[in-house]
Amino acid sequence: MSYANIVVQNENRITTITVNRPEKLNALNQATIAELGQAIKACQSDAETAVVILTGAGEKAFVAGADISAFSSLSAEQGSALSQQGHTVFNMFENSAKPVIAAINGFALGGGCELAMACHIRVASETAKFGQPEVKLGLIPGYGGTQRLVHLVGKPKAIELLITADNLNATDALQWGLVNHVVPAAELMNKCKEIAEKIKQQAPLAVSASIACANAANTLGGFDMEIAQFGKCFATSDMKEGVDAFMNKRKATFKGE
Ligand code: COA
Repeated sequence: MSYANIVVQNENRITTITVNRPEKLNALNQATIAELGQAIKACQSDAETAVVILTGAGEKAFVAGADISAFSSLSAEQGSALSQQGHTVFNMFENSAKPVIAAINGFALGGGCELAMACHIRVASETAKFGQPEVKLGLIPGYGGTQRLVHLVGKPKAIELLITADNLNATDALQWGLVNHVVPAAELMNKCKEIAEKIKQQAPLAVSASIACANAANTLGGFDMEIAQFGKCFATSDMKEGVDAFMNKRKATFKGE
């Protein structure tokens, strides 16, 4: 299968999916999300895929978020639909029977942090930065981030990240439990491959069953609330102000309406 926004390579039964829009810091537009869905689906039935590694092109970003440039024209209904699309695809990563390792090579902000959190294991380079800066745009995470962040770091830390828009560096992300390992940038892919090789030694059906059982520990109600609340944000003038401020490289002024 050929893709416009991602690159898929297979070596030694490890499939690497690379989000490939480095000029936009690998921001996720709808086409990229759709391609990620197609790629992870294809991995499920591919006998040559035992483990998946997900990363971003270039040295600066894993994924710097959803593509903000598409936001200003969206209605509340379209915002909810966008969120639903993201949920569907990110759930495919979380529910993948083939383990997915996120190789986080730089900014993992907004949808990028959410995408990393949908993976089963996260390995970060020392240069990685994490955060959910959506409130700066008059938005909330729309791809499962409000839920997965709580599950990973606990409610107090999750709420702090969600409402301050603070970035976490890799060391703090490790301490907070957001990532499994931090390594120098040059060692990132080797570390991911080393983990993948360990997984490849194990019984595949038991590996898949372990993932399914761990996922069953999630509670589901909050995901639907996130989709509804994300859509509502698109009906606010603060969202239009936040997105316009980002696009025009200025500071936003919010009115709470
Ligand atoms: N959506 C759309 N475009 C994005 C983007 C996003 N999430 N993140 C970065 N870009 C684009 C920038 O607009 C810029 O495009 P341009 O060269 O056409 O102006 C390009 O990628 C490079 O980004 P830039 O902001 O110039 O790089 P930087 O090193 O100064 O800053 C970040 C890096 C990650 C701090 C900054 O790009 C940023 O804040 N991005 C948005 C993060 C965010 O809010 N994500 C959540 C979205 S819901």
